Amino acid sequence: MIGRREFIRHSMAGAGYVWLSRVAPFAAGAGTDESRIEVLLGEPLGTISPNIYGHFTENLGGVIYDGVWVGEKSRVPNLNGIRKELVEEMRKIKAPVIRYPGGCFADSYDWRDGIGPAEKRPRRTNFWAQEETAAGSTSHKYDPNHFGTNEFFQFCKLIGSQPYLAANVRSLPAAEFYHWVEYCNSPAGSTTLADVRAAAGYAEPFGIRYWGVGNESWGCGGNFTAQEYAVEFRRYTAWVPRYGQPLSFIASGPNDDKWDWTRGFLEEIVRKGPEELRSIYGLALHYYAWNLSRGRTREWVEGKGDALKFETVDWYELLRQGDVLESLINGHWLVMGEFDREHSVKLVVDEWGPWYRPGSEATPGDILEQTPTLRDAVFSGLTLDTFNRHPEKVAMANCAQLINCLNSLYLAHEDKFCVTPVGHVFSMYAAHQGGQALRTIFTAPAVNYDRDGKPASFWGLNGSASLHDKELVLTVVNPHVNATREARVGIRGASFKSGTVTTLTNSDIHAHNTFDQREVVSPRSKALDIQRGDLAYTFAPSSVTKLTLSLE
Ligand code: AHR
Repeated sequence: MIGRREFIRHSMAGAGYVWLSRVAPFAAGAGTDESRIEVLLGEPLGTISPNIYGHFTENLGGVIYDGVWVGEKSRVPNLNGIRKELVEEMRKIKAPVIRYPGGCFADSYDWRDGIGPAEKRPRRTNFWAQEETAAGSTSHKYDPNHFGTNEFFQFCKLIGSQPYLAANVRSLPAAEFYHWVEYCNSPAGSTTLADVRAAAGYAEPFGIRYWGVGNESWGCGGNFTAQEYAVEFRRYTAWVPRYGQPLSFIASGPNDDKWDWTRGFLEEIVRKGPEELRSIYGLALHYYAWNLSRGRTREWVEGKGDALKFETVDWYELLRQGDVLESLINGHWLVMGEFDREHSVKLVVDEWGPWYRPGSEATPGDILEQTPTLRDAVFSGLTLDTFNRHPEKVAMANCAQLINCLNSLYLAHEDKFCVTPVGHVFSMYAAHQGGQALRTIFTAPAVNYDRDGKPASFWGLNGSASLHDKELVLTVVNPHVNATREARVGIRGASFKSGTVTTLTNSDIHAHNTFDQREVVSPRSKALDIQRGDLAYTFAPSSVTKLTLSLE
C-alpha cells in the first residue's frame, strides 16, 4: 500500500479514469418547522484567532515561481517582483499569516541560498523535482532562489501578514536554525548577519515570531519516531536567540488520526519536566481529505477522486471527510491534555484541504495543482466553521495551499489570474476574525443519499457564529446538492432588525472559475428582509451563506 509518506518517494502519475458528471436539478426543500438556527449570546466559546485564516506557500510546482513571484522585470504587474493582483486580493481577505517555505521542501532548504544579491544565489534541485514532468517549468525543478527570506518578508509586509517560517530539521544542524533567526531578528548593526540583511535593503529586523521546527517529521521531515523528534525539538528550541522578539515554536505534529504521534511526542517532551511544555506554542496537525474511494482502498494514488468530474455521492464523500476534522481536533486535544493539563499548547492545523488526483491543472505541468469547484468552497466553509467552533483549541490554521496548488484560493499563470470559489469563502469568512465565537445550535433534517446501494446521511445545516460589538456574523453551510433549506434564525439574548446576506452557490455543483470565466462562482450580497425581529431564511442548495446581523 502506498501512503502519503511514501507518495513523496514515488511517482504520482494518475490513471486515466473516466468519470460521469451531471448537473444537479433543484428540488423543494424542508420548511422552517423542521429547521432552526439558534445563536446563544450567553455562551461565548472564546476569541477566534485571526490566524486560523492563515495561508501556506511552499516552494512547490507553480506556487512560488509563477504564482507569487513573477520577477521585477516581468510584464505581469508586480510589486518588487511579487504578483500585484495576488497582493491586492490578499489584502481584501485580511490574510493574517503565511507559512513558507514548506511543507516537505522546508527540510531540504538551506535559507542561506535565498539571501544576498539575486544574481549570486545558487541554483538548487528542488525537493519536488522528482515529481516534475517534462511540462513543468525549469524553475520548478531547479530552484533559482530568486525568492528567499527577504522576498517572503516583503510579500508578507505588502499584505500586512505575519510570516511563519518552517526550519529545516532533517538536513541542517540546529546552529543554522539559530542563524536564520539571527538573520531575521537581530537588531540593525548588531551581527554580521544583520549587516548582510541591511545590505539587501532591510536594516531593521524582520521581527519574525512564528517558527516551525521541521515539517512532517514522521515522514519527509526526517523519518523520526515521535520520541526521536521530541528530543530534536528540545535541542533545536533550546537557547534560540530572542533579540527581544517573543518566539512561538510550532512542533511537527500528527497526520490525521495518529494519536500515537501526539502522545509519544508529548510524553518524551515532559520526561525532562513539565516546564518543557512552555517551549511549545503549537502542535501542527495535518489533515487532507483525499480518499474518495468510499472504503474501497486506503491506497494513496488509487483512493483519490477527480477535482472536476464527480457525482453527487463524491460531493457528500468529500464533505464527510472534511467533517472528520472536528473529531481529530477533539481527539488530539484530549491526548494533549494527558500531558498538558493547562492546555498551554494549542493546535496549529498548518496544512488542510482536499487533495485530488492530477488532471485538472489550470496550468499543465504544475504539479499538485487542481481546479477548486463549488464542492471545495463548501468544504472550506465547513472547515473554517469547524475552526471557529474550537477557538480555545485552534490557534492557527493554514490552508494548503494559497495559489496554484491543492485547495488554492487563487490560480495564476503568467498574466492570467482568477479567484477560486475557495478564495471567495475566505473573503466571506474574514468577518469572523477576532470575534467572540458563540455556541450555536443547528437543527435540521439530515441529508439522505445512496452510498453504493446503502443509505447514508449527512447533517442538514451547520456553521458558526461570532460577535463583534453589536454585529453578529453567522456562516451556514447547506450541503444538500439540490434542496433549499428554510430555517428560522434566532438569537437568544438579543434582537435584531437589520442585516445583510452573502451567498456563494451555483446551480451546478461542479461550477468553478477559470482564467477566461472568472466570475462563474462568486458571492452575491443583498439586504435581509427582517419582519418584527423574526428571520426565516431559505438557504440555497450546495451553498455557503454569511448573515451579518446588527443587534439592538
Ligand atoms: O502540501 C503538500 C505537501 O503535503 C507538503 O509539502 C507536505 O507537508 C504534505 O505532505
